[in-house]
Amino acid sequence: MRVVICQSAAEATERTVATITRQVRAKPDSVLGLATGGTMEAVYAGLIAAHQAGLSFAQVRSFNLDEYVGLPADHPHSYAMYMRDRFVDHVDLPVARCHLPAGQGDPAQAAADFEALIAAHGPIDLQLLGLGRNGHIGFNEPASALTSRTREKALSQTTLDANRRFFGPGMPMPQSAITMGIGTILDARKIVMLALGSDKAEAVQAMIEGPLRAYCPASAVQLHRHVTIFIDPAAAAGL
Ligand code: GLP
Repeated sequence: MRVVICQSAAEATERTVATITRQVRAKPDSVLGLATGGTMEAVYAGLIAAHQAGLSFAQVRSFNLDEYVGLPADHPHSYAMYMRDRFVDHVDLPVARCHLPAGQGDPAQAAADFEALIAAHGPIDLQLLGLGRNGHIGFNEPASALTSRTREKALSQTTLDANRRFFGPGMPMPQSAITMGIGTILDARKIVMLALGSDKAEAVQAMIEGPLRAYCPASAVQLHRHVTIFIDPAAAAGL
């Protein structure tokens, strides 16, 4: 595990962007694993800038970590719409090659279909990860099995509280999501994680220095041979 404590959030973000752009330059038909959340908004802005400077995503295929259950792809708060608004509609990655689990329909079927699609096109060359305040990766909440595959997971109260800001006041929030499993994530050839700010310090400490345990799903990255974690000083405070 390579842990890089950067001087600032901006530097950590830039280095995450650079890791992804290097991957796509080296292998234009890379299979990327993509993430959502507030932290990633600046990463996608950086990737759009790289595209404007000449980087093509035309041959890339991408698989997102997760999607809320019950939201159609065109719902303003679905992760499918997040990806279109913040990335896909601004680059040359064909929208049909940017895959997310289906938020509508039978969640078990959607999860099985997503696993099958990853198996057909994978392995994922580079998986981008954020980190939940409670140590989740994707939506693998605490107590997720370390060998889990894509499935529906109920969202924990911490996650509901953290993500409510993306939903309007009084707007009902999905109570569960379909997420790649921890085992699915660990199948990626390489992992790059970006975690910023003091809200993440406790989870960063548990992930890097704590025991491998289902109560800190992110600690599973300790098992991976090729993982780079970019953090800023605030996120590194507990190390
Ligand atoms: C969300 C996503 C995760 C993301 C995490 C951190 O709930 N499902 O993939 O990494 O929470 O999000 P943020 O960057 O907004 O703190």
